[in-house]
Amino acid sequence: MIKTPILAAAAMAFAGAAFADEMEYMPPVTHAATLEECSACHMAYPAGFLPPQSWKVMMATLDNHFGENAGLDEEMRVEIEKYLVANAGRDRSGDGAAPQRISDLPWFRHEHEEEVSKRQFEKAKSWANCTACHKKAEKGVFEDD
Ligand code: HEC
Ligand code: HEC
Repeated sequence: MIKTPILAAAAMAFAGAAFADEMEYMPPVTHAATLEECSACHMAYPAGFLPPQSWKVMMATLDNHFGENAGLDEEMRVEIEKYLVANAGRDRSGDGAAPQRISDLPWFRHEHEEEVSKRQFEKAKSWANCTACHKKAEKGVFEDD
């Protein structure tokens, strides 16, 4: 039985490494309508950063989207939701919650804590402004740069 905790720790370390690799690159939005409609106010965030239920809630509440009206006609709304849900990430919390901000997710906080200088943040103004710090974000690249 003494082996169990060691194996569990090794498995966790491995999962951590795989997760970090996965985070350096997140496939960018390639769907034309999503690129067009969801990059007017900020970059078109990669679908893989939020679980499917997050996109469903977001696409149902576009008329009050972080204080803005990002409403779309129904045909376009449905098309974009389909794309985002089909390309969504895993539900990492596993509790079915539908977080609306990538920048509030536990992994996000973990990756950014103590990595960003005050000056860098003041320039970016918001965590939602990925491209201020990740110059290649629109190509899906989030590794050190
Ligand atoms: C009219 C402007 C506007 C449009 C169009 C728009 N958004 Fe946003 N979005 C915002 C604002 C404002 C915020 C909050 C930004 C901040 O906190 O700095 C935001 C934030 C977000 C966030 C959370 C970012 C974070 O903090 O992790 C996501 C995800 C998002 N938008 C997705 C979308 C999607 C998907 C679409 C297309 C259907 C879209 N947005 C279209 C204005 C817009
Ligand atoms: C104020 C600057 C800043 C903003 C804004 C910012 N980041 Fe980061 N991000 C960093 C720094 C610094 C790191 C840690 C060093 C590195 O890996 O680039 C990091 C790390 C990451 C990582 C881990 C990369 C890896 O190598 O594993 C991801 C993924 C990431 N950011 C995504 C985002 C997303 C998505 C947004 C927008 C919703 C965002 N970041 C906004 C500065 C920022």
